[in-house]
Order: sequence, then C-alpha cells, then structure tokens
Amino acid sequence: MLTRLRHLTTLENLPRECIERLLDRSITMRDACAHGTRKLNLLNGRTILNLFFEPSTRTRTSFELAARRLGADVINFNISFSSTAKGEELFDTLHTLEAMHMDAIIVRHKVSGTPDELVKHAMSGVSVINAGDGDRAHPTQGLLDALTIRQHKPDFSRLIVVICGDVKHSRVARSDVHAFSTLGAKEIRLCGPAALMPEASELPACTFYDDFDKAIEGADVAITLRLQKERMASIDLPDEAAYFRAYGLDTRRLAKAAHGCLVMHPGPINRGVEIAPDVADGPQSRILEQVGNGVFVRMAVLAEMLAR
Ligand code: CP
Repeated sequence: MLTRLRHLTTLENLPRECIERLLDRSITMRDACAHGTRKLNLLNGRTILNLFFEPSTRTRTSFELAARRLGADVINFNISFSSTAKGEELFDTLHTLEAMHMDAIIVRHKVSGTPDELVKHAMSGVSVINAGDGDRAHPTQGLLDALTIRQHKPDFSRLIVVICGDVKHSRVARSDVHAFSTLGAKEIRLCGPAALMPEASELPACTFYDDFDKAIEGADVAITLRLQKERMASIDLPDEAAYFRAYGLDTRRLAKAAHGCLVMHPGPINRGVEIAPDVADGPQSRILEQVGNGVFVRMAVLAEMLAR
C-alpha cells in the first residue's frame, strides 16, 4: 500500500509510482471536468492558502481554480498589503495564518529551500506545497510538463527531450529533469550559453550542449526557457537579437527535431528572445495545453493530500 503525500516540495527522489499515480489522477480530474462536473466537493470544508512572495499568473490562478473546483475555500494572501510589508517575519506570518486553521499552504518564494523550512515549522496536519522556490524546484510544473508529454508520447523510454535557455536559474528545468528521468526518458539534453548552464555534476542524468542546432537534432520534445533576469546578479549576455540567433527556437531549428516534436514553454514567454512567435503559436506548440493541464495536476495534488 502506497502512503499518500503529506507535502510536495520537490520531485527529486519521488518514487515513479507516486508520479504516475498523480498523473493518472490528473487525467481523472480532466475527464470529470470535461463531463461538466465543475465541482467535485472532495475538499469541502478545507481551507487553502496561496502564499506567493513572487509574481505568478499561471501557478497561482490554477491552484486557486483547482482548489475551488474541489470545493475548498481559498485565501489569496496579498503580500504587498500584508504585515510582511511592515516587517513581520516569515514564520510569524506562518503561525498567524495557521491560527486561522489552514489545511494547506501553497508557497512561492525567491529563496531556495523556503518550502522545506515551512514544513519543519508548520503545525502537524498542515500540508505545504512548493509553487516555486528560487532556482531549486517547481514540482507541479514538472508534473504538468510530464502530463502534457505523456498525452502525446506515452512511451518515455523512446523520448529525447531538449531543454534550452537559462537552465542555470530555472527551477522548472530541475523539476522537469527529475520528473522525466524518473519516468525513464531515453535522453535529456540541456542547452544554453556556458554562463547559463548549471554544473554538470548537479544533473548527472543529462547531456550538456552549447549548440542548439546540434542539441535539437532528432528531439521529440523541445522546451524553451526565458532568461530569468531577476535571478542574475551580473552575467554578460549577448543582446536579445544575438541571443535569439544562437538559442531561439524558430521554424528552421524546429525542422531539425523529430517529426511531430512537441514545443513547450513554462511561460511567461518572451517572443523573439527564446522563441519565435510563429513557433509559439504554431501547430506543434503545446504551451496553452500545458497551462490547462496545470489545473488538473494541481487538482490531483490537492486531492491526494487533503481528500478525506
Ligand atoms: N510557469 C509558471 O510558474 O508561471 P507563473 O510564474 O505565471 O506562475
């Protein structure tokens, strides 16, 4: 008997059965919603807190929608109008909100490891879900990316995935690598300029490239990443036009990938920097499908943790 998840802070070392169970449950959620069941009532009486210390469009909105579809109450904590702006420390904020009887806290924070610190300090019975911490992990994004791929290319053992761009600062890239390697991907290629690549020892399951034309050859999935300037102290980068020529995904480059290569991006996209507009909006793009899958994956994660 598999134990249910209490917290979700990273996909690293999460067993394959657990990832597959969450993906299967996401499909159940998708099918229920497709049949017009907008309210599943699995989380009636539960209260979920969205605690985002960094901006978000997709993750925050889809967690809120997922929680509401499951029948939970949702509090969207507004940092700039909260007592955080008056200097209240993170754990005092945590305990204050817990005193109002939250069942789960969904946290995004610029400091890597913050969700695990909250797990250590949270009251028993309160679940913590990482919605992105620094450059470390974004587990629900890793799951929704795996789900999107699985819907089109279910056999991961045949899959060549290329992830191109600012890999060094990308929590999405790390969670994608953890998900795809656990699911048995044949090859995961990471590509970008040297200044934007992590240490090879950090992600031993991957092969490293600095030439996107070579990295994309024969790929079944191409994931492009934006330049995360908010996490760069001082990196000497070419201007955006030169960056696009070297690392942008355009139709010429996409033609080098395998037939039917899926084009993915976690968003937000910067058109003409890491991806050409006609590729982002083209027939191989799965970018908006990723967004839609985010709701089903987050429903699955919340139900796994909180359904009675
Ligand atoms: N992919 C992602 O995390 O997007 P948001 O920053 O809009 O949540």
